[in-house]
Amino acid sequence: MDSDSLSGARVLIVDDENANVLLLQRILQRAGFEEFKSTTDSRHVLPLFTEFKPDLVLLDLHMPHLDGYAVMDQLHSRIGPSEYLPILVLTADVTAATKQRALSAGARDFLTKPLDATEVVLRIRNLLETRSLHQVLQNQNVRLEEKVRERTAALQEAQLEILARLASAAEYRDDDTGEHAQRVGSLAGFLAGAIGLSEEQSELIRLAAPLHDVGKIGIPDAILLKPGALTADEYEVMKTHTTIGARILSGSRSPMLQLAEEIALYHHEKWDGTGYAGLRSDGIPVPARLVAVADVFDALTHERPYRNALSMEDAITYVRDQSGRHFDPSIAELFLDAPGNVVSSARGYPGHEEGVQGP
Ligand SMILES: [Fe+2]
Repeated sequence: MDSDSLSGARVLIVDDENANVLLLQRILQRAGFEEFKSTTDSRHVLPLFTEFKPDLVLLDLHMPHLDGYAVMDQLHSRIGPSEYLPILVLTADVTAATKQRALSAGARDFLTKPLDATEVVLRIRNLLETRSLHQVLQNQNVRLEEKVRERTAALQEAQLEILARLASAAEYRDDDTGEHAQRVGSLAGFLAGAIGLSEEQSELIRLAAPLHDVGKIGIPDAILLKPGALTADEYEVMKTHTTIGARILSGSRSPMLQLAEEIALYHHEKWDGTGYAGLRSDGIPVPARLVAVADVFDALTHERPYRNALSMEDAITYVRDQSGRHFDPSIAELFLDAPGNVVSSARGYPGHEEGVQGP
């Protein structure tokens, strides 16, 4: 450690004998230290320590009121677990037992009385050097952690963007704006919060729901874009977009993609069991039930290749009629009755709809 950083180091001197304090102050001054405080009353150490924030403590062991061990005990509560704050113990008692006890109480090194000026300075320098290196390492760790956080956030952002683009790609053929998927995500996420799911779960649903129709990538244009009604065979092919989507999304370790897989697979289930796979009521995963309402409502209120958009009122009537049939009644009820309600939040949704095979 150079003399510049030495002069900036703060040293706290604790010794009940004023002569020792004065001696140490003189030694420190001669060695170039400018920042030190001292006390002869060990009961004052804690407030002094808090106020002065020393880089090193010179601590006498044998003192009235609080001895050096008690002071070290007190200081421990103020020293962070990752902080290296050297305590240099001053003692005339150099027995092995004393040293061991002091070391286990937190002392880093010893100075034996009577004090030798050269040794005092050398030991202080060594300990301050170690503290300085420790601080450099700590700062590096903090910077590294920050970098890791930044990179992780960037990576997550990129993943989310890719997934949003994948959702858009899936519906690009039948909705050139690609907005339906995102609207369904927003509405499903909103409903998730409204039924009492946590903010984290709701956000996950908001992000996963846009991928519900990703399996349409595997549906031939002749069926997907057919302006008229589908034949029974065509409808069977159309229905496979749920299993194709689930296959595309399967096997991921990401909770969001696992949720997206579940939604893709079950978003065409109906509460009364007449959906694609025949799951019914509580057997249908909740996120899929939420997406069912959001998907159908959004599809109804936007124009499709084979029919015009329904008015908001007609779409609301439809949701009401289908409560307990297509939709989970508690979600449908909430959708219709929520204060300030989801319908008006859906009103603002812009753009076109996608080609979900109609309700
Ligand atoms: Fe679908």
